[in-house]
Amino acid sequence: MISLLIIYIFTDGSLVVLLRFQLFSLTVGDKTWLKFGASEFYIYRGSPVNHTAAVNACALLGATLARVKTTQLHNFLVKSIGTNPPQDFFFIGLKRVNLEKTGFKWNDGSSVTTGETQWLSPDPNNKNNNEYCVSMIFKVIGSNGSWYDVQCSRDSNYLCERPAGKTVEGSSVKTVYSSKKYTLVAVLYKMCLSAPPYKIQARARMLDESFPHRFNVTTYDIRSLEFVARLERIDLDIGWNTSQINISWKAYFNTTVTIN
Ligand SMILES: *[C@@H]1O[C@H](CO)[C@@H](O)[C@H](O)[C@H]1NC(C)=O
Ligand SMILES: *[C@@H]1O[C@H](CO)[C@@H](O)[C@H](O)[C@H]1NC(C)=O
Ligand SMILES: *[C@@H]1O[C@H](CO)[C@@H](O)[C@H](O)[C@H]1NC(C)=O
Repeated sequence: MISLLIIYIFTDGSLVVLLRFQLFSLTVGDKTWLKFGASEFYIYRGSPVNHTAAVNACALLGATLARVKTTQLHNFLVKSIGTNPPQDFFFIGLKRVNLEKTGFKWNDGSSVTTGETQWLSPDPNNKNNNEYCVSMIFKVIGSNGSWYDVQCSRDSNYLCERPAGKTVEGSSVKTVYSSKKYTLVAVLYKMCLSAPPYKIQARARMLDESFPHRFNVTTYDIRSLEFVARLERIDLDIGWNTSQINISWKAYFNTTVTIN
């Protein structure tokens, strides 16, 4: 979250107006993921860890170390990391597979073929014959996120990448009656989602919109095939007669999702 405080002082000095804006980034838990192309990226700046621990930490977030395959993505990450104050090393998803200067592979199995490499000369130099991992480096003056082959045991920060969050939308008309001002309704997606969503937002309104009924909807028990909507009437403190209610929903996934 970013807060901005804006102060206007009018020319006669008599008036000061304070405006406070809050800009929210997409966060899941307390981590901020930065979207770029079809992926989103997490910049870890905690206490440094070795390569194995970095891979495991990304995996816990449904991610892998970042594949920085294009100069555009490289520049985006460098700018996002920022150089003030300078950070140290960030592992990326590139590893040495042989002793050649070109002997590196991304963690999706692809080779570095695009020519868009960002090595800090004279790297990759495989110093002491044990530099099998790759970091973006900010430590050396002017290195500005260039690539550096390093020992995998060298404790570093790291960059995680995962497919950008996806949403799927749908709606159902349910015939619902309630003696109280709220009731629970099971809603089938009517499509086969490859994974359960982590969140669903839903709204409900009478199919015949001339009715005055207004509902507040909360969602529970979110599964792969269905979820439960709690419909609460908010225009009056009573229930309602048997009615056709349109429940529209938006499901949020933090991985790619396929619909069958
Ligand atoms: C560092 O890299 C970024 C993005 O690649 C670029 O915009 C910036 O000008 C560079 N800064 C320096 C000091 O070279
Ligand atoms: C990486 O760090 C973890 C946690 O500190 C440690 O258990 C592990 O032995 C280290 N692995 C290597 C290869 O250095
Ligand atoms: C509807 O639900 C939201 C979220 O739970 C709550 O903040 C709001 O007060 C509710 N509105 C009414 C009229 O109950």
